[in-house]
Amino acid sequence: MRVGIDALALAVPPLALELRTLAEARGVPPAKFVDGIGVERMAIAPLDEDTVTLAARAGAAALAQAGISASEIGYLVVGTETAVDHSKPVASYVQGLLGIGAACRVYETKHACFGATAGVLGALEWIRAGGGKRPRIALVIAADIARYGLQTPGEPTQGGAGVALILREDPRLVEIDATIGHYASDVHDFWRPLPSKDALVDGAFSVECYLNAVTGAYRNFQEEREETERFSVLALDRLVYHVPYGKMAIKAHRQLLAEEGLDAAAADATFAEKVGPSLTLPRRIGNSYTGSLYAALGSLLATDPAPLDGARLGLFSYGSGSAAAFFTGTVVAGAQKRVAGLGDALERQRILAIDEYEALFHARNDLDTRPYAAPEGPATSPRYLGVDGGKRRYG
Ligand SMILES: CC(C)(COP(=O)(O)OP(=O)(O)OC[C@H]1O[C@@H](n2cnc3c(N)ncnc32)[C@H](O)[C@@H]1OP(=O)(O)O)[C@@H](O)C(=O)NCCC(=O)NCCS
Repeated sequence: MRVGIDALALAVPPLALELRTLAEARGVPPAKFVDGIGVERMAIAPLDEDTVTLAARAGAAALAQAGISASEIGYLVVGTETAVDHSKPVASYVQGLLGIGAACRVYETKHACFGATAGVLGALEWIRAGGGKRPRIALVIAADIARYGLQTPGEPTQGGAGVALILREDPRLVEIDATIGHYASDVHDFWRPLPSKDALVDGAFSVECYLNAVTGAYRNFQEEREETERFSVLALDRLVYHVPYGKMAIKAHRQLLAEEGLDAAAADATFAEKVGPSLTLPRRIGNSYTGSLYAALGSLLATDPAPLDGARLGLFSYGSGSAAAFFTGTVVAGAQKRVAGLGDALERQRILAIDEYEALFHARNDLDTRPYAAPEGPATSPRYLGVDGGKRRYG
């Protein structure tokens, strides 16, 4: 059975901060953020945007791209590490906003940036299992607003996005192979204690944990394969990594290719062709946590100048804490055309001044208790309107 990604859509907040602006304000050479960390801009959410609105907008766009109705979805998962409620899942809000029917498995997954991949792998297994009277079609959404404290080392690695995937049989974008390499380890590299809005991170340790997971997941992938001939990542046409910031993808690529005996210089020589296009959109979104791998995949399909029909892909997903997966897939003919305009919304973002960014950062501290205010005019997409009788309201 051929299963995989049939549609991929992106929702980004309408505001952004240039990393040069942040660097100047923090007294850091701009080259450190832009080249050293590898990010040009980070998307910034306004006060009527939260994880639910990003997820719903991305989900609606994915349904439209696939040309299917909400009632055809039998499996709806939202992966997030910036949920809006300890109990009610973001997926339930999305179900309501998109009009997805009652005959559907609906839930939220959490494992730092790995949450959406857990949803994707579960949905693919559900599709492969088959059965039932209607085609098995899943909507898996990754949505997050990445946030570290002002003036902390993590500050230049914020951002946010929703990325929605339609998964089904005979997919039109990327076929995903059945073998999955897993790696998990109980580590404290990144966490967010319950009362805190800001993530805490041991930055250098998180990089080390990520790189250990690259090796661990890839070795497990080799062990899990049923074929007898040895698999080599060198045979893959493109590699797509979890990208909390661009430089991390360079480190990941070196780590993976070291498994094939290549040194850093030899790995770097393949980077521009095999990885470069997957970073075009992430460099302008910043970190999107759960969405990061899938934004990178969308970036590859939407911006790679080479024809990718039939291209073999390797994908690596990492979530702190930690859990990781390495898996492979094949680009379906015509996929690049289907997602050609994926980054268009980034062209329309309004660029913030540093004081606007800091004011928004502080104002978001009270977002979850802000009293409900009726919308002033008709909304063209879901907006967060505040809390009414203890319940979050959207319009
Ligand atoms: C990414 C992070 C660790 C960087 O922290 P930092 O201590 O401020 O930055 P560093 O001093 O390590 O510098 C970052 C890079 O910029 C480079 N750099 C520093 N100054 C530079 C300059 N003027 N010009 C160009 N590059 C420069 C450094 O050499 C380094 O590159 P390297 O990683 O290849 O060695 C920090 O932003 C963070 O904790 N982010 C969140 C955690 C995260 O995303 N982890 C990922 C795994 S999930």
